[in-house]
Amino acid sequence: MASFSTPQVYIEQFNPKEYLQEYYSEEDGVLLADWVDFTLRNLNDTFTKGGVGGNTLLDFGTGPTIYQLLSACEAFDKIIASDFLEQNRAEIRKWLRNDPDAFDWTHLINFVCDVEKNGDDAEQKSETLRNTVKQVMKCDVHKKNPYDPIVMPPVDCLLSCLCLEFSCKDMYTFTEVLKNLQALIKPGGYFLIFGVLSCSFYYVGEKRFTSLPLKQEELEMAFYKSGYVIEKNVYAPRTDMSTLEISDFDNMYYIRAKKPK
Ligand SMILES: C[S@@+](CC[C@H](N)C(=O)[O-])C[C@H]1O[C@@H](n2cnc3c(N)ncnc32)[C@H](O)[C@@H]1O
Repeated sequence: MASFSTPQVYIEQFNPKEYLQEYYSEEDGVLLADWVDFTLRNLNDTFTKGGVGGNTLLDFGTGPTIYQLLSACEAFDKIIASDFLEQNRAEIRKWLRNDPDAFDWTHLINFVCDVEKNGDDAEQKSETLRNTVKQVMKCDVHKKNPYDPIVMPPVDCLLSCLCLEFSCKDMYTFTEVLKNLQALIKPGGYFLIFGVLSCSFYYVGEKRFTSLPLKQEELEMAFYKSGYVIEKNVYAPRTDMSTLEISDFDNMYYIRAKKPK
């Protein structure tokens, strides 16, 4: 079996443009069938009916994507995006400054506007998000303080989408990372995590990246062992099996966990 994709592999081989085109493009994005519907609806619920909101949301492992922040910008005064890779942070900054070379998210921005039904159009929504993302920072899951040397003030809400199973090689590491991340959250604050189960790989173009194949019970156990209280857990099966050769996940998960006071 191939060894787990290292940070160096990500630095050298992760191409954000290819990732965006392959997974999120309007024409044939692999994640458009199930994933974006699952995450965008759950995020909207969480920040409206679910009552999660506040001053600051920190997105851990933002990658080159902004879809996960589209509802959050209505519920928080400030969003901090963060990723390990400079090429991903550059892609986010491009979108924030409305660079013509940035990825076109209009199809998903329209989708969120339709779900939210608050009368905003894609342009207004984009402006709200651009005004709310105040920083794009470097983070590294493998550091006890992932923002070292910066010590982040604890936030109301930590969000992470499709990051930990791709950067933690085993359940022990995954659990240690959950413990470390708790220091970034205020007591009584939330960790919202979205990801995939039973995934062992995904391709970006010709490059293959590994994944830790998570099981539902192990995932929930890791949260309990790390001292969080799970307030909500949602699982949904993958329905589109036409792209299994690009990534082999079989289910999607969302966990809303609280850091005890
Ligand atoms: C599959 S992408 C997910 C991107 C985005 N959040 C999404 O929802 O599509 C995996 C992300 O994990 C990040 N990553 C890889 N190694 C990391 C590390 N050591 N620390 C933090 N993030 C890391 C990558 O840079 C990449 O952005």
